[in-house]
Amino acid sequence: AAAQPLAGRHVLVTSGPTHEPIDPVRYIANRSSGRQGHAIAAALAALGARVTLVAGPVTIADPAGVRVVRVESAREMLAACEAALPADAAVCAAAVADWRAALAAGQKLKKVPGEAPPPLALALNPDILATLSAHARRPRLVVGFAAETENVVANAVAKRQRKGCDWIVANDVSGDVMGGAENAVHLVTEGGVEDWPRLPKEEVARRLAARLAEALAGESPA
Ligand code: C5P
Repeated sequence: AAAQPLAGRHVLVTSGPTHEPIDPVRYIANRSSGRQGHAIAAALAALGARVTLVAGPVTIADPAGVRVVRVESAREMLAACEAALPADAAVCAAAVADWRAALAAGQKLKKVPGEAPPPLALALNPDILATLSAHARRPRLVVGFAAETENVVANAVAKRQRKGCDWIVANDVSGDVMGGAENAVHLVTEGGVEDWPRLPKEEVARRLAARLAEALAGESPA
């Protein structure tokens, strides 16, 4: 049998985009496929972890051996994450919408000939990664992602501080990464910055899961 270094551990993973309703038929979204987050959930399960995957709306299949909680919006994602605690570790790979419509209309907004378009006022969504990092039941290890199109490492180092998480997986999304099969990441930890080669997302997931198992070894279970 394969090694199960995460047996007895509970790991929370967020993945996918969020959809923020504007009215019953329209929403704000982004290009996240969920591939990286879902691959991480699968890799953690393969190492024996009990995994709760809180997934936004994705079209990819559920990973095997993982409990999947499906959500739509950022606020639903946060509630599902808090409901899943305690956890030994959390990996926030979801591309959470920063903003939602301040007032989601209860009925479909109507286009009235000759009238100006309706204004779209935005409200700030909760930051799930920062909330988990500061939580009374904070997981021992909290890992975030930083999708950047420039100054990737510098932004990730600053983001690690600002969010209060332990590690940041930083990636350059200026190319074909979002929705693609491969990812080139830098792992930013308390110890510094590691540059990983461009790898299939499944391999990034396996390496991250292995590192997580090392970091949790010897810690008492949540
Ligand atoms: O601030 P930014 O969106 O660049 O940070 C990205 C990291 O924060 C990712 O790990 C993402 O999952 C997490 N995040 C979150 N909730 C938000 C925004 C980002 O968990 N509202």
